[in-house]
Amino acid sequence: MASPELVPVERRGDVAVVRIDHPPVNAIGEEVRSALAAALGAVAADPELRAVVITGTGRTFAAGADIRELEAAVLDHAREPPDFHALLSLVEDFAKPIVMALNGTALGGGLELAMAGHYRVADSDARLGLPEVNLGIIPGAEGTQRLPRLVGVPKALEMVVSGKPISGEEARAAGLVDAVHGGDLVEGAVAFARDAARRGAPPRTRERGDRIGDAASNEPHFAAARAQARRTRPHQTAPLAAIQAIAAAATLPFDEGCRQERALARGCVRSEQARAMLHGFLAERGAARLPGLATNGRPAAVEHVAILGAGTMGAAIAMACANAGLRVSLSDGSTEALTRGFSTIQRTYQSSVDRGRLTAAAAAERFARIRSVAGYEGCGAAELVIEAVFENMTLKKEVFVEIGRRARPGAILASNTSTLDIDQLGAVSGVPESVIGLHFFSPAHVMRLLEIVRGVATSEGVVAAALQLAKRLSKVGVVVRNAPGFVGNRMMFPYMYEAQFLAEEGASPEQVDEVLTDFGMAMGIFAVDDMGGLDVAWRIRKELRQFEGDDGRKPLVADLLVELGRLGQKTRKGWYRYGEDRKPIPDPEVVALVESVARANRIERRPVSREEILERTIYALVNEGARALGEGVARRAADVDVIYLTGYGFPAFRGGPLYYADTVGLGRIHERLLALQREHGRRFEPAPLLARLAREGSSFREHDRTLEAKEARP
Ligand code: COA
Repeated sequence: MASPELVPVERRGDVAVVRIDHPPVNAIGEEVRSALAAALGAVAADPELRAVVITGTGRTFAAGADIRELEAAVLDHAREPPDFHALLSLVEDFAKPIVMALNGTALGGGLELAMAGHYRVADSDARLGLPEVNLGIIPGAEGTQRLPRLVGVPKALEMVVSGKPISGEEARAAGLVDAVHGGDLVEGAVAFARDAARRGAPPRTRERGDRIGDAASNEPHFAAARAQARRTRPHQTAPLAAIQAIAAAATLPFDEGCRQERALARGCVRSEQARAMLHGFLAERGAARLPGLATNGRPAAVEHVAILGAGTMGAAIAMACANAGLRVSLSDGSTEALTRGFSTIQRTYQSSVDRGRLTAAAAAERFARIRSVAGYEGCGAAELVIEAVFENMTLKKEVFVEIGRRARPGAILASNTSTLDIDQLGAVSGVPESVIGLHFFSPAHVMRLLEIVRGVATSEGVVAAALQLAKRLSKVGVVVRNAPGFVGNRMMFPYMYEAQFLAEEGASPEQVDEVLTDFGMAMGIFAVDDMGGLDVAWRIRKELRQFEGDDGRKPLVADLLVELGRLGQKTRKGWYRYGEDRKPIPDPEVVALVESVARANRIERRPVSREEILERTIYALVNEGARALGEGVARRAADVDVIYLTGYGFPAFRGGPLYYADTVGLGRIHERLLALQREHGRRFEPAPLLARLAREGSSFREHDRTLEAKEARP
């Protein structure tokens, strides 16, 4: 059945303009597919129409297959993944030329549809990509077969393995689009289509083998792509499957290649990894949907940000804001620190230019958005003030007294603290409803997570504005409640301590780190501690007594390393040694120190198994996450997952700590926690929420579903 609402057709003389109109992102679900087919049927039947332009409404051509359809197939293996093949054949075999006018984003199935068209024109803001690997799957609508035919094997491999979109201009240079239009895209596409109709028979992608190359010249590209996939996406199966599908394109006829692609795609859709990564995708989007916020009016827009403190965090936050087009006033109590901050910023932009990531003009424009100001001078005009001074409560309170007095009425007053009490800062500011925590992660201009900490008095409008800011900065905002260490760092401490206890009992730091990276963590915990700085964790331990260790067992070595000046990467020595390349090198001095501390404290050293390392560290993380969730510090289990996926290098293909716990089974985790409690003491006592869910045979996912259903009730 035609659905004129979903895909309206407009006549422009002898050219039909077919528009996908399915907000918010023109996802191509079954209804859109059949509406498109019906629209093309109507155009075919009309002898006065000689050519077709297919485009999308809004800023997106099409963001791909409908994620919900994909989810249905991922969760229920009796369901088939979305099938585009009939539509794509209809498009490619269409007797009248079809020009795809790519307005904005064309991703996944959106780009696959576009590649079946006879020509493509893009606007200057277009982003084209096949991001399926981010969901643990591969393009399954002929994308792995058409892309190499258009852009050649090396570029196709790069796009499919990285999942990163390219610009319209890059796509034109690569041969993916025929033209880029600066002006009215549809107008340009209509003219292009009319011209094409005059020229006659349109070329078809599947007949174009000229760019594929031969087996011998391709092999090094495949080998390099496999190596890149293993390096950048370790343990993930989809990138390797995608490479295999492209290899099929390079060696087999189109139809046979498509059959192979379909088989590989189906295998990925059925995989545990796809399930976990789809959970991560939906969990991220769900984090921004806070019940109640939508009904409380539009939050004030932020255009000017004042940042107090030009250290590592302050400087990087300034870049994050400037990169998003915001104006920034940056200040610091020390003139030298401010100068240092600006030279860090300049160096960072210069290195982006040197690496070809940014044009010199764009870097200069961003740099110019950051203004150096003295003291609290920036506060009066800014809609948002971010305090990024040293992690010390007394100092932060002094700052909040000042900004409470000087900021304009209604301004948002934020602290970048990673652990300290937001309510105390709110109280001294005199405007606690305006105070919120914006916990950026280092490096703040790169890391995607923004932990948004609402105090008891923080207004809904301020929370909504913080979420909006996260989106503007292209970050993932997760709202949590104010409690020591919030969610991320609170979970980090028991995890980190368990690693240190294991070292005291006989494991080496590199052995622990290897188990964790083999599990999929981006870095081992000792390497993370070295990168962040041992003094940072030390300062938090001193500020917040509850992070000093539990039931009599405190980690014994970290403080000694700090006293020895081994602060991690910045002093070239911490848990490891570091050379020029900043790669961790196991250090016998540390092993000797750990051994002597163990001896002095009568800790018996023994061989520690990989299983024990994994269980004790990851279950400590899971248990603390469950505790934070049970206490309401995190709202949903999925929020805990998002925090660890985007801020702490938890492997995407495991879906986050609490999702991972569900896959192991809460009954099993509960049982193991009890055993660990018997052996090691109270710190392994199962969190009450975890114990309850385990008893009920339930899961964290079920817990979230119940919560969301409750919140949705009027
Ligand atoms: N199918 C269905 N819904 C989709 C979707 C898809 N392919 N892609 C995005 N959406 C939804 C999101 O869930 C979100 O819904 P919500 O507002 O109810 O939470 C909404 O569209 C906006 O998405 P969001 O990511 O918040 O917007 P954005 O402007 O930041 O980014 C995209 C837009 C298209 C770049 C981004 O959504 C994206 O990368 N989508 C997935 C693309 C993809 O992987 N395609 C291949 C799928 S097979």
